[in-house]
Amino acid sequence: MAIRTARLELVPGALELIDAARDDPGELGRLLAARVPASWPPEYLDRPALEFTRAKMEAAPSELGWWLYFVVLRDKDPARHELVGTCGYVGPPAADGTVEIGYSIVAEHQRRGYATEAVRGLLARAFALAEVRRVIADTLPALEPSIGVLVKSGFRLIGEGSAPGVVRFELTREAFERTPPSASDAPAIVPFEERHRADCAAILARLPEWFGIPAANEAYLATLGRLATSVVSLDGTTAAFMALEPLTPHAGEIHVMAVGPEFRRRGIGRALVHEAETWLRQRGGSLLHVKTLAPSHPDPHYAETRAFYSALGFLPLLETTAFWGEKLPTLMLVKALR
Ligand SMILES: CC(C)(COP(=O)(O)OP(=O)(O)OC[C@H]1O[C@@H](n2cnc3c(N)ncnc32)[C@H](O)[C@@H]1OP(=O)(O)O)[C@@H](O)C(=O)NCCC(=O)NCCS
Repeated sequence: MAIRTARLELVPGALELIDAARDDPGELGRLLAARVPASWPPEYLDRPALEFTRAKMEAAPSELGWWLYFVVLRDKDPARHELVGTCGYVGPPAADGTVEIGYSIVAEHQRRGYATEAVRGLLARAFALAEVRRVIADTLPALEPSIGVLVKSGFRLIGEGSAPGVVRFELTREAFERTPPSASDAPAIVPFEERHRADCAAILARLPEWFGIPAANEAYLATLGRLATSVVSLDGTTAAFMALEPLTPHAGEIHVMAVGPEFRRRGIGRALVHEAETWLRQRGGSLLHVKTLAPSHPDPHYAETRAFYSALGFLPLLETTAFWGEKLPTLMLVKALR
């Protein structure tokens, strides 16, 4: 699944994206629903690099998410999303818990902090896994902007890298956890890991007006990880989560979504819905569905939930008692993606 930061979306390089990057930048833009800038591709993303990544993905498709990511700059207007570079890991964590990262931003988008933001997204996702002990990055001593990105992110020089003339930087888990979150730190949307389960349960417990039926909460929690699940990590805290369920080749459902009460109205729900839309688009679907309590029920809290979905472009499809019984009429909401 994609990694999201304040301004960026890091889209994992599935085979079809890698093929498009190698053969047809126009197709790459269409697949990512993003403009491809004139200065594309970024430095170091040449044909051999793409062939190398392609071979890795072909040999082990389950390693999607541990190699290349395309860095897309989001805009309020989806028509203005733009591809600004690539970043990623050099494979899954090694046996000693080491992960290597890399990044490259196209010339016309440099010096705007996108590389630092992408690196922070990669770090949040990597260190969310308990087995990751340190993240390393190799660079050249002359690449000052690249070194600046690493130093800003808390890395330190540890010596020679993988080839002559290359230097290696390291960020240990201890140093990462000590790094104070900067004011510009935005929520990162990362894939659910087992260690998030208790945090997700705690979020539901803090929202009794919405999640007051223990058996229903247990059922929601049981879907985490089984369904495509994302969590929002903010300043080291799990602030929200969402689980997505495929319904048909065309449709997918937000099965459960909850934002911790102290984190509401900060755009996290909006970011999660956008994440759901990206997930659905990548599966070739176009109808995003969610069920909530219908307006014929007087509950004021669910009126807020409906206002949220309505603000994000969901339309009512049907009110029915078929799902949760006569006492809890269900409103089925749908958003058709363009
Ligand atoms: C509903 C929920 C997911 C929204 O998440 P959020 O992060 O607070 O929402 P956002 O900040 O992204 O809001 C996006 C827009 O939705 C609308 N919106 C959000 N909350 C609203 C509310 N309480 N009343 C009216 N409009 C609201 C606004 O237009 C808002 O944009 P704005 O803040 O710029 O005005 C969250 O409040 C939540 O978890 N509620 C409890 C559980 C729940 O209802 N889950 C869904 C069950 S189906």
